[in-house]
Amino acid sequence: MSTDRRFEPSGPLQGTYTPPADKSISHRAALFGAMSDEPVVIRNYLQSADTQSTLSALQSLGAGVEEDRAGSVLVRGVGLHAPLEATGGLLDVGNSGTLMRLLPGWLAGQPGRAWTLDGDESIRRRPVDRISEPLAAMGATVDAREGRFPPFTVNGAALAGIEYELPVASAQVKSCVLLAGMLADGSTTVVEAAPSRDHTERLLRRARVPFEAEKGRLTVSQVDEIELDEIVVPGDPSSAAFIVAAATLVAGSRVVVTGMGLNWTRTAFFRILERMKAVVVCELEEPGTESDTEPLGEIDVASGPLEGTEVDPAEVPLAIDELTLVALLGAFADGETVVTGAAELRLKESDRIAAVVGGLRGLGADIEETGDGFVVRGDGSPLRGGTIDSHGDHRLAMLGAVAGLASSEGVEVLGMDAAAVSYPGFEADLRALLAP
Ligand code: S3P
Repeated sequence: MSTDRRFEPSGPLQGTYTPPADKSISHRAALFGAMSDEPVVIRNYLQSADTQSTLSALQSLGAGVEEDRAGSVLVRGVGLHAPLEATGGLLDVGNSGTLMRLLPGWLAGQPGRAWTLDGDESIRRRPVDRISEPLAAMGATVDAREGRFPPFTVNGAALAGIEYELPVASAQVKSCVLLAGMLADGSTTVVEAAPSRDHTERLLRRARVPFEAEKGRLTVSQVDEIELDEIVVPGDPSSAAFIVAAATLVAGSRVVVTGMGLNWTRTAFFRILERMKAVVVCELEEPGTESDTEPLGEIDVASGPLEGTEVDPAEVPLAIDELTLVALLGAFADGETVVTGAAELRLKESDRIAAVVGGLRGLGADIEETGDGFVVRGDGSPLRGGTIDSHGDHRLAMLGAVAGLASSEGVEVLGMDAAAVSYPGFEADLRALLAP
């Protein structure tokens, strides 16, 4: 049931805050656990609707999942090439685009088996041809509704390695092909024009899979099994970004964020914020770092006046889930903020360009939609407020809440319940930082 919530202009956010576990890494950790022969303990697994969909799908495939109260999940895998089970062959991905695009990489390499994947109303609008094309080139077939939408059936086959140039900078597509590459004869190379989040690559290295990354060419070779022990999931910078945006916008705020993932492929938002002259003190991982671990650390944020900025298209994949927040910050900043090269935003849980432009305009922002981004103009004063529809998109629901706290008249968010897709504790965490 959809829940509406009002967020009034607030006093400052103050204190120490630890974001929930990283969604992207949680999905991948569970998948790698299911593909392992030995049990894998995942510490700090994200408790959210999306990551529960992953655990349920993996259970349907025969993996054992034991959750404890401390937030750890023990996954008893079936091995890479196991004769996977499936209840009725139907796998429900819920609202999760990441599960829908990554899991088929593994399923495609199971000869003679077939599974149908489906999800909610929003997932049925999201394209899967971006994964069916490379999987078909490797030898599998994917039959999708109208050739490109869920529900779709993955027919597993004996795969052959390919070289695949990514037509879009997408970590989901890259990861799908790399997972299939572990099951394909020979080696598989993914060529990426611009870097995107590299959590799959780090896990491949951790799992001792033959893997090389050089100048945008990522090569994985066929393996019989993977070896993994414990995986520790850091705090999610994309979830933390909402609290950081609130602390930046609400006068008098100062928040120290601890236990946050600092992986350079996820932290472009904080670099953009620094450019907008926000007061952020952080030591982010250096761009270009290749590692098999996920760095963790602290950032210190205080409120202050912001200046408009231009987001470079090369930054887009590295801040893809935070770009709607850049629009919000731009509406409070002095000058123009421009985002280009972000047409991918139209294919997320909602058309995030149309939704954020329409939503912020309704709150009083001077913002225009372009084909692949938006232009927002501010004079440094707060947004008026009003009503914003989440369109069932978790990130827009949380953006509406932040807008309300920083606005002059408050914001009513329609469909606040969507936040539970990635961050069920969002409202509680926000209120805990608001001084009484
Ligand atoms: C994700 C990759 C991004 C991102 C999504 C999570 C991932 O999607 O928007 O929220 O975990 O790989 P694309 O790879 O399609 O850009």
